[in-house]
Amino acid sequence: MVKHAALLDLLATMQAQPGPLNVIDTHAGRGLYDLSGDEAQRSGEGEAGIGQLMKADDLPGAFQPLRAAVSDLNDGGATRYYPGSPLLVAGALRAGDSYLGCELRPEEHDALKAALKGKAGVKTVCADGFNEAASRTRVSGSVLILIDPPFEKSDDYRRIVTTISDVTARNPKAVVLVWLPLKDLETFDAFVRDAEDAYAGPLLVAEARMRPLSDPMKMNGCALVVANAPAGFIEPLTAICEWTVSRLGDQGLARVWTA
Ligand SMILES: C[S@@+](CC[C@H](N)C(=O)[O-])C[C@H]1O[C@@H](n2cnc3c(N)ncnc32)[C@H](O)[C@@H]1O
Repeated sequence: MVKHAALLDLLATMQAQPGPLNVIDTHAGRGLYDLSGDEAQRSGEGEAGIGQLMKADDLPGAFQPLRAAVSDLNDGGATRYYPGSPLLVAGALRAGDSYLGCELRPEEHDALKAALKGKAGVKTVCADGFNEAASRTRVSGSVLILIDPPFEKSDDYRRIVTTISDVTARNPKAVVLVWLPLKDLETFDAFVRDAEDAYAGPLLVAEARMRPLSDPMKMNGCALVVANAPAGFIEPLTAICEWTVSRLGDQGLARVWTA
């Protein structure tokens, strides 16, 4: 939710610049989630968040594009379906903009293709998204790379850092938005330090700690790290993290800072 609200705000900010926008989603997933399914029912926290998102009367403006997208997907009725990053980006594309969704697992890729059927400006590839971003990032123009791995493999952190470095070497103005789980501070700090070493520009870091980071076996929140963040992105990002932590957290903390 934090990631998707931030993604839609970032897209709008980037689309205010002249020229077409080219988006690569390195880990696209299946595009569309049925919240009545078994898996969604098991992850109660996400479900609770979407419920709050749809009914809150104090929702910050930064969340409105996400709420509108979820509402549209459900024809304004009860929230059964939730859009993943591919559908959210596809829904925001203008004529001339493009989206490439990379998904490694064939069955997820089939679902992704089905979810995006008939959408203009979109392509998908069943391939490793880190490699695709490194080789397909346009060398000029407005580019957004979303990196949202499942963190099932031990080298995901290292590959994110390499991809930030590869992408910004190809296109120094490319904006890279990375989603990370927050488990313990040691892992997160080490990642930010490695990313700082790999990328010369400032990194905007947003943490939504939903609870104190005392149990590293738990997902205690999430973080976004942005390379080449456009001016003005810090305000919506702060509003998104603060609202999420205050509404859904338990002794949590929202922090947005520049590394
Ligand atoms: C967290 S989900 C992505 C969610 C999606 N970005 C969204 O916001 O809706 C991660 C996905 O990455 C896929 N995946 C794992 N490793 C990958 C890789 N190296 N390249 C591309 N996709 C990968 C998984 O199969 C899974 O569907």
